[in-house]
Amino acid sequence: MSQESRTILVTSALPYANGPIHIGHLVEYIQTDIWVRFQKLRGHDCIYVCADDAHGTPIMLRANQEGISPEQLIEAVGLEHRADFAEFNIGFDNYHSTHSEENRELAEQVYRAHFKAGHITTRTITQAFDPEKQMFLPDRFIRGECPRCGAPDQYGDNCEACGATYSPTELKNAVSAVSGATPVEKESLHYFFKLADFEPELRTWTAAGHLQTEVSNKLSEWFADGLREWDISRDTPYFGFRIPDTEDKYFYVWLDAPIGYMASFKNLCGKTGRDFDTYWGKDSATELYHFIGKDIIYFHALFWPAMLSGAGLRTPTAVFAHGFLTVDGQKMSKSRGTFIKARTYLDHLNPEYLRYYFAAKLGSGVDDLDLNLDDFIARVNSDLVGKVVNIASRCAGFINKRFGGQLADNCTETALYNEFIDAGDAIAELFEQREFSQAVRRIMALADRANQYIDANKPWVLAKQEGQEQTVQDVCSVGLNLFRVLMTYLQPILPAMTAQVETFLNIPTMRWDAIETPLTGHTINAFTPLMTRVEQEKIDAMLEDSKEHLANAAETITSGPLADDPIAETINFDDFAKLDLRIARIAKAASVEGADKLLQLTLDLGGETRNVFAGIKSAYSPESLEGQLTVMVANLAPRKMRFGVSEGMVLAAGPGGDELFILHPDAGAQPGMRVK
Ligand code: MSP
Ligand code: ZN
Repeated sequence: MSQESRTILVTSALPYANGPIHIGHLVEYIQTDIWVRFQKLRGHDCIYVCADDAHGTPIMLRANQEGISPEQLIEAVGLEHRADFAEFNIGFDNYHSTHSEENRELAEQVYRAHFKAGHITTRTITQAFDPEKQMFLPDRFIRGECPRCGAPDQYGDNCEACGATYSPTELKNAVSAVSGATPVEKESLHYFFKLADFEPELRTWTAAGHLQTEVSNKLSEWFADGLREWDISRDTPYFGFRIPDTEDKYFYVWLDAPIGYMASFKNLCGKTGRDFDTYWGKDSATELYHFIGKDIIYFHALFWPAMLSGAGLRTPTAVFAHGFLTVDGQKMSKSRGTFIKARTYLDHLNPEYLRYYFAAKLGSGVDDLDLNLDDFIARVNSDLVGKVVNIASRCAGFINKRFGGQLADNCTETALYNEFIDAGDAIAELFEQREFSQAVRRIMALADRANQYIDANKPWVLAKQEGQEQTVQDVCSVGLNLFRVLMTYLQPILPAMTAQVETFLNIPTMRWDAIETPLTGHTINAFTPLMTRVEQEKIDAMLEDSKEHLANAAETITSGPLADDPIAETINFDDFAKLDLRIARIAKAASVEGADKLLQLTLDLGGETRNVFAGIKSAYSPESLEGQLTVMVANLAPRKMRFGVSEGMVLAAGPGGDELFILHPDAGAQPGMRVK
């Protein structure tokens, strides 16, 4: 089991400082934390750093809105983030901010190196400008009508209703989401990073085992599309760092964000005396890993290695991307109460439940994972409470009451004990490979074995028989030794419960290699309940707390759907009768390659099928729709879209985004029935 000690630096993506941590984020921080704790448990020198991502337009605008400075905002949000992470036991060795002196210096250093080497170029571009606020508008701050389908209130770069992509200047009746003013076009000089200068190097790097296979494949597509120059500058007003040797240009937030990994580590060096260059120098022998979500692969697998390499720094050992969290099969939604903030979760539930559940679901790939709340209750209760804790609670009482807390002098079940130890190598390899769900399965199989052993030996029966004292002590001591091994394997996942177990078993901080020797003749402490069952009522209360209710819409209509979208002009019956609405069964639903918002639906009208593209992907996963009945406009003229021809429309309510609700008929309706 002994191996060479490794020196490892690990990061998670830096959360934006303009909003709270939610359970989607926690997939990443829990995944990373488990991996880091595993490395430490194995005796490696592993450091985990992170920071708040504090720059950019949304943060500046939110601070304006709240009437505070960006510095005050990021300070307040930073405190909340730290508190949330601490309660979920995310064991950062350092948590910093991208709005820091270390980061300013490093960002300038990286930029200057690229500038000197000729990898930065400038040119004038035309952009939408808010004449009232006197600021350039990022695409997502421009709203207007879709130039293709006319849907109102669409973002500046794509339509959620029909999936069209376009430039903000094509939007009809465009308004600035910041002031409501009509944007004008304005020119400005921008700075660009010439990514293509690094193409040969990046092609080699991305194919050299630093990325997951799915990710490398995605990159091949991006290479085929061509590496475009990256716009790294923003005009004032902007909350960020000013670009050296410019008057009023700022680094785009994504330029200094990954440098924030280095800045956080540098800040740690200042506190602990670790050597920065040992980790980041060109020929560093240390390992560097970035855990990220699949949405930010482009930044980490292309821009980031290019930025590092061009600045004469080392590149990452590996980038590990994970998928996105859904709740009960759907995107997290504020109106359904499944957009659950870390804080709201903590108000109701034990953080270790979620750590365990995510571990039980996480693999090494980029697949999305689902938090199914019924399954969550069942797994935590049956695995952790019913299996693992049960072993200790069945054995501890006898040892404490009858033997003064003392374990037997010998471990009488060497073969069984060795079986548990021997499983350790395979379990360790699964943790190392981030196959946590498989590791959990192996550990729970061992927990079953331990319970079978206790069931077979029935200490509660032996305890009532004459002359069986020694056997009772032996059996319960074996049980507790097996429990100790299991808890060592679970330590990366359940650090808080493990700490309680260390006190109960009266042992030092767990280490993977300490379990080779069982505890014999050792005195333990009193047993205290280690974990209670998840209760349905707590889940319900958490969902209720997470719901955002629409303010009393009926009274004055100053807020709510009617205020934003008043009822349209009256039509006569003939107009209505032109619409042919039909019940349709969603026979198939699938994502559309290259379209973030669209699902391709095969609708069964009971005799004929239609192919329809619907902008509902942000609200529904394809699986959750298949088999459902809905209502479609069946006589809409077919429309040619970028991805194919759409032969109709399904009906859905709501403002868009993940606040979208498709219509379902009452039970009994059949595909093909007319809606009148
Ligand atoms: N600030 C950038 C990252 C800069 S890293 C140099 C950012 N921030 S974020 O707050 O939007 O996301 C932080 C991390 O959480 C990202 O890796 C993102 O993929 C992940 N997740 C955010 N929502 C998520 C889910 N719903 N599910 C899983 N991961 C999610 O991106
Ligand atoms: Zn459209």
